[in-house]
Amino acid sequence: KRPAGAPDKSLARKVTKVGVVGAGLMASQMALLFIRRLHVPVVLTDIDQARVDKGVGYVHSEIDKLASKKRISPDEANRLKALVSGSLDKAAFSDADFVIEAVFEDLGVKQQVFAEVEEHVSPEAILATNTSSLSITDMASKLKHPERVVGFHFFNPVAVMPLLEIVRAEQTDDATLATAFSIGKQLKKSSVLVKDAPAFVVNRLLTRFMGEVIKSVDEGTSFEVADKATEPLGLPMSPMILLQLVGSAVALHVSETMHGAFPDRFSVSENMKKFVAAGKGAVWQWDSTGAQTVDPEVLAL
Ligand code: 3HC
Repeated sequence: KRPAGAPDKSLARKVTKVGVVGAGLMASQMALLFIRRLHVPVVLTDIDQARVDKGVGYVHSEIDKLASKKRISPDEANRLKALVSGSLDKAAFSDADFVIEAVFEDLGVKQQVFAEVEEHVSPEAILATNTSSLSITDMASKLKHPERVVGFHFFNPVAVMPLLEIVRAEQTDDATLATAFSIGKQLKKSSVLVKDAPAFVVNRLLTRFMGEVIKSVDEGTSFEVADKATEPLGLPMSPMILLQLVGSAVALHVSETMHGAFPDRFSVSENMKKFVAAGKGAVWQWDSTGAQTVDPEVLAL
C-alpha cells in the first residue's frame, strides 16, 4: 500500500550510488544502512581526513561485528566493506544519484554544502537532508535545481529505529519524492510524509517533552528525580539517556530552532547551554560495576 501522500511509485528513479556528506555518528550509521540494504557504493566526505577515516572505520567495524555474530558470511562482509569509501573531495559524488547530508545543524552551513554538491552531480541527482529541525524549503532555496531536494530524517540508532520522516519542500517534485519513498522502502523503514514545519513531527513532540524534563532540572529538581520520575511511563529510554544518545549539542540546536519558531511554547534551557559549552553529551557516568551516577562534573557546572 502506498504511504499517505506518496506520489505514484512509477516515478521513482533507481539509485546506483549514494553520497553522504559528514562522517559523524549519524552519517556513518546511515552509510552502513545504505550499504546493507541497497548494496550500492557509498562514499562519505567530511572536512578532514581523520573524520573521514573514523566514519569509514565505523562502517567497517560494524560490518565485522555482524560477521562475528554470524549474521552475514565473511564473503558478504568483504563485499559490503568494499562498497564504502571516503573522500575529502565532493567530486567523488559526480556519479552519485542520491546524496544525503548530515553535517552541523546550521542553515547556512547546510546551504553551502548543497551548493557545493550541486557543482558536482547531475541535475537529477537527489539532495537529501537528515536535518532534525531546519526548513527544507530554505535549504533548497539557493540551488539551481531546488526541485531535487527532500528531507530524509532518520532516528538514532539508525539501524534500529523503524521511522523515517520524509519531508516535502515547497520546491520538491514528484519524482524526487517518489524516489525518497522507494529508498525508504528498500531501507525497510516505515516512511511518513510530514510537513516542512520546524522539527517536523517527532522532534517537535520530543523537544517539548525533553524540554520540560530539563526545565524541571533548571528549576531545582535533581537530575535523578527528573529522570526516574518518567520510569513508570514505560519509555524505552529515560530522558537523560536519550539526551546522551541524541547528543546535547543537537538537542540544543533543535530547542533553539523551536524557541525561534514558537517562543511561547519552547524554551532554551540554561543547563543545556552549560552542557554543550562544557562539551558534555551526557549527564550520567557509569563506574566499573556498571552503576550509574550523575557525573560530578555535570553537578559542578
Ligand atoms: N546502535 C546500533 N544498534 C543498537 C544500538 C546502537 N546505539 N543500541 C541498540 N542497538 C540494537 C541492538 O544491537 C539490538 O539489535 P539486535 O536485536 O539485532 O541484536 C537492538 O538494538 C535492541 O537492543 P537491546 O535489546 O540491547 O536494547 P533495548 O531493548 O534497550 O532497545 C533501543 C534499544 C531500541 C535503542 C531502545 O532503547 C529505544 O527505542 N530507545 C529510544 C530511542 C529513541 O527514542 N530514538 C529517537 C531519538 S530522536 C532522534 O534521533 C532524532 C534526531 O533528529 C535528534
